[in-house]
Amino acid sequence: MFAIEAKNVSKRYRGSTIYALQELNLEIPSNQIYTLLGRNGAGKTTFIRICATQLTPSSGTVEIFGYDVIKDANMVRKFISVVPQEGKPLRALTPWDHVYNWLQIRGENKTHAKIKTTEILEKLDLIDVKDKPAMYLSGGMKQKILVAMTMATDSQLLFLDEPTIGLDPLSRRQVWSTIQDRKKEGKTILLTTHYMDEAEVLSDRIIIVNNGQIITQGTLQDLRKLIPQNIRMELPKNSIDLEQLHSYGNTVEIGKDTLRIYTYESSIKELSEIALKNNIPFNISPITLDDIFVSLVSSKN
Ligand SMILES: Nc1ncnc2c1ncn2[C@@H]1O[C@H](COP(=O)(O)OP(=O)(O)OP(=O)(O)O)[C@@H](O)[C@H]1O
Ligand SMILES: [Mg+2]
Repeated sequence: MFAIEAKNVSKRYRGSTIYALQELNLEIPSNQIYTLLGRNGAGKTTFIRICATQLTPSSGTVEIFGYDVIKDANMVRKFISVVPQEGKPLRALTPWDHVYNWLQIRGENKTHAKIKTTEILEKLDLIDVKDKPAMYLSGGMKQKILVAMTMATDSQLLFLDEPTIGLDPLSRRQVWSTIQDRKKEGKTILLTTHYMDEAEVLSDRIIIVNNGQIITQGTLQDLRKLIPQNIRMELPKNSIDLEQLHSYGNTVEIGKDTLRIYTYESSIKELSEIALKNNIPFNISPITLDDIFVSLVSSKN
């Protein structure tokens, strides 16, 4: 049995002409971290909200640990916890209130709830502000309250929709570490993020969504194989004749001004000599998930 089994899921919002999700099929085994990547509007949040019983699909089915998200919604809710995109804590309540009350609502006894609340607030560096109402906290601290609430629960399946948005680099890593702790406890995590480094560090499997469809999925190693070249050179657009560049590898435009060329180590010496000779600024680095993402979603638009 899968933690999530989605079959032919489509969603068209009321009044909208486009499909936010189109016949999406996805199976997520338990005790895995899966990450949805996709451009703004790709359909990630729509999929998470359907899985989390907050939204009904237009067609298709989703089962969570074998329970249907529509017919057995109450059962499904017992297994899951969600960090929603753009969620906000309640202004007058403190970090402690949020987490502790949430655990009590979910049936934890007082002693356990206290231990778990202290633990997660320490882990996410909120312990010093635990008694301050949320309205006096910074944006990142407020975001961490939402993460703390979900990460403190004993839910088997966690939906984290851009959980680290607005967090500083150290706070992001604290969240990563709590996600990894939950995996060690046997939990399943479905994550979305726009931070490619986050996806690289955490994911057992990465799903790339574009226009409501999965365009590819696999481990980081699987995805790396989609670009045969292993080096990226970035230089200003129009600085070198495109024809000349194409003989070294594939090019992708990044924004208005920048061009990336994916190439092999063997070509880099020659390419950098051309750039140096013509006084063209450039940088070279090994390819990352960012390159794979950019080349996949820019070619499928
Ligand atoms: N409540 C809504 N009513 C109508 N259309 C919606 C609604 N919510 C989302 N959409 C549309 O559905 C599509 C998918 O949106 P969704 O929020 O799932 O994208 P996303 O992948 O989560 O994007 P982002 O990375 O920006 O969060 C978009 O075209 C969006 O405009
Ligand atoms: Mg979203």
